[in-house]
Amino acid sequence: MAEKSFKYVILGGGVSAGYAAREFAKQGVKPGELAIISKEAVAPYERPALSKAYLFPEGTARLPGFHVCVGSGGERLLPEWYPEKGISLILSTEIVKADLPSKTLISAAGETFKYETLIIATGSTVIKLSDFGVQGADAKNILYLREIDDADKLVEAIKEKKNGKAVIVGGGYIGLELSAALRINNIDVSMVYPEPWCMPRLFTSDIAAFYEGYYAKKGVKIIKGTVAVGFDAHENGEVKAVKLKDGRVLEADIVVVGVGGRPLITLFKGQVEEEKGGIKADGFFKTSIPNVYAVGDVATFPLKLYNEIRRVEHVDHARKSAEQAVKAIFAREQGKSIDEYDYLPYFYSRAFDLSWQFYGDNVGDTVLFGDSSPDSSTHKFGSYWIKDGKVVGAFLESGTPEENKAIAKVARVQPPVDNLDELAKEGLTFASKI
Ligand code: FDA
Ligand code: NAD
Repeated sequence: MAEKSFKYVILGGGVSAGYAAREFAKQGVKPGELAIISKEAVAPYERPALSKAYLFPEGTARLPGFHVCVGSGGERLLPEWYPEKGISLILSTEIVKADLPSKTLISAAGETFKYETLIIATGSTVIKLSDFGVQGADAKNILYLREIDDADKLVEAIKEKKNGKAVIVGGGYIGLELSAALRINNIDVSMVYPEPWCMPRLFTSDIAAFYEGYYAKKGVKIIKGTVAVGFDAHENGEVKAVKLKDGRVLEADIVVVGVGGRPLITLFKGQVEEEKGGIKADGFFKTSIPNVYAVGDVATFPLKLYNEIRRVEHVDHARKSAEQAVKAIFAREQGKSIDEYDYLPYFYSRAFDLSWQFYGDNVGDTVLFGDSSPDSSTHKFGSYWIKDGKVVGAFLESGTPEENKAIAKVARVQPPVDNLDELAKEGLTFASKI
């Protein structure tokens, strides 16, 4: 089979790939130099839409509406943008073998791709219940969500099981966003997760209490402190019930599982240095192998602000790390230098009519401010994290753009505080003064 050669190859066609492509164009990549190879059948899009407007009964998002880079207020790169720029967008092509020493990638169909510079942007895959042998986990309508094909299966199931029952397994991002999306579709929703409160990776018990109360008001039933240990199916193979470790059995027409992600780095095992479960990269997203870069979910990188090595599975970092890598590649070719990545962690989520943002680090003492009652009409509340006498993290529900900017600034500046009671009283006013 014919071999194709490119100066630059981006492996993966998700968020990072799309933002990298835009940066390549800005930097003046020449026609024929760049290829994006993706196993997905569509051009890069804003993945966060899949767990939100893609599933809504009204105001539904569909491609080409959410191709990158609309999610950050940028130009929408339609599929035709790529050939117009002379960029080869090679879709529905899964790479099954990577050989870094010979700079070669091989697809499932046996095509060979050569590169001079590679950007690894393979993102994450879902952890499946069948990975740890949960009985019956391969029944029909037990669904996961990572790519647009998965979202289409969910849309189909929602249509087919109108007014039916769903069990959501997992209390993290997918759990919270999908419970809301299914509830909005008038599905009867129960959520099951092992921890004492939802999203323990980020939320304090106080923050979680608001969301759990709010979800309960919306009719979502929350079952905590237990896990799914098995599934029953109908004769046609469709899921019928979820068996919980505590002995309860929940009826289900649809099950959505969100029990975490795993960075897709298996292709490169033993060929590149790893750290903390990802591919080790420097402040320019260069890996241990010359001319190989890693960005987005797969990259473990120096988080300068905290002098720590971290991996981040969120869209803002996917966008920014991709841009940083491309800038670094061009600077290097031109014998110039650029500043090291200096990232301020930023995560957000939206569900029902709620919308929160978080900036910084969630370590140290916490202070809750504002009205965090699930019955509040404004539901504007937040939390600061304080470490070594400085505010290092800030969370805000239902903030205005100015207020969100203010909490971002607090997390970046890390102002000192000596009285936590005062800080709680001041709340957002503290941030707006920084
Ligand atoms: P991404 O997963 O976007 O892209 C990876 C690409 O590589 C895919 O196209 C994949 O098919 C391809 N690929 C992988 N292996 C391959 C192979 N061997 N051959 C060819 N192609 C291959 N974050 C946030 O901050 N706010 C939010 O609201 C959300 N919402 C959200 C919803 C849902 C449903 C998901 C799954 C995730 C989010 N996220 C999020 C997380 C965010 O979307 C995520 O961090 C970024 O998409 C990561 O970008 P990457 O480019 O690293 O991977
Ligand atoms: P997650 O890590 O956010 O949450 C996983 C949750 O799974 C845990 O909180 C726990 O409640 C639960 N869990 C673990 N084992 C379980 C078990 N055996 N049974 C029941 N529950 C169990 O992961 P996710 O929600 O699956 O999200 C997957 C990926 O997608 C992550 O990278 C995430 O960052 C990304 N994502 C992000 C957003 C966002 O940023 N708004 C939205 C959707 C997805």
